[in-house]
Amino acid sequence: MIALGCDHGGYNLMVAIKQYLDEHGIAYKDFGTDSAESVDYPVYAYRVAKAVTSGECALGILCCGTGIGIAMAANKVKGVRAAVVNDAFGAEMTRRHNHANILCMGGRVISEEDAVRFTDIFLNTPEEGGRHDKRVAMVTAIEDGTFDENA
Ligand code: RB5
Repeated sequence: MIALGCDHGGYNLMVAIKQYLDEHGIAYKDFGTDSAESVDYPVYAYRVAKAVTSGECALGILCCGTGIGIAMAANKVKGVRAAVVNDAFGAEMTRRHNHANILCMGGRVISEEDAVRFTDIFLNTPEEGGRHDKRVAMVTAIEDGTFDENA
């Protein structure tokens, strides 16, 4: 199950992403918004972040005007690794190396076609594990306040 959320700035991308998910039979839960009317992106960031960190959804996708604000808000929730993606390489590498669990994109930055392309890459790229497990664990330790750079 994929958690979806956007504000008005990312609504156009989310319409295209939902069409892609429908066409591919990929299950999702839509946390809004449901129009291009102005709303506050932290609301949708929080809903999707909680859905992912609770285990209700395996991964999340968030869109706003730039992808940045909604990523910043989502990353405040413990356990979230939300990445702003503007290219195909980033979509792949943030899954492989950063073990990102939320993909963030900007409706005023990239096209709907690219958003669908990056979504496809993100959802079909596994976490690489290995040496990256250790680095992701270090990021989590920073979040937990237990990080020791000499450990
Ligand atoms: C809304 O105008 C805009 O600020 C929002 O979509 C996003 O780009 C914030 O980072």
